Amino acid sequence: MEDAIRAEGLVKRFGKTTALDGVALAARPGTVLALLGPNGAGKTTAIRILATLLRPDAGTARVCGLDAVRDAARASAARSG
Ligand SMILES: Nc1ncnc2c1ncn2[C@@H]1O[C@H](COP(=O)(O)OP(=O)(O)O)[C@@H](O)[C@H]1O
Ligand SMILES: [Mg+2]
Repeated sequence: MEDAIRAEGLVKRFGKTTALDGVALAARPGTVLALLGPNGAGKTTAIRILATLLRPDAGTARVCGLDAVRDAARASAARSG
C-alpha cells in the first residue's frame, strides 16, 4: 500500500536561514510518526509544508497520494476529510 505521507528532499529557506535541508520522511497508513527535534530544527516548517500551508523551495511531498505542492487544494481536502 502507498505511504500515507511521503516527503523527499524537502528544502525551505527563510532568507539566510535554511530551515529544511533535504528532509525525507514517510508514514505508512494507520501508523503514527513522531517528529522530534530541538527548537528551530524545522519541525513546524515540515508540517506546514505537508499541510499545504507553505511551499518548499525544493523537494516533493505527497499526502494521501496527492502532491502537497502541485495539488494543494485536493491534498488539503483529503487531509481534513
Ligand atoms: N516564517 C518564518 N520566517 C523566518 N524564519 C522562520 C520562519 N519560520 C521558521 N523560521 C526559522 O526556521 C527555522 C525552523 O523553525 P521551525 O520550523 O519553527 O522549527 P521547530 O518547529 O522545529 O522549532 C528556525 O530557525 C526558525 O527561526
Ligand atoms: Mg515548532
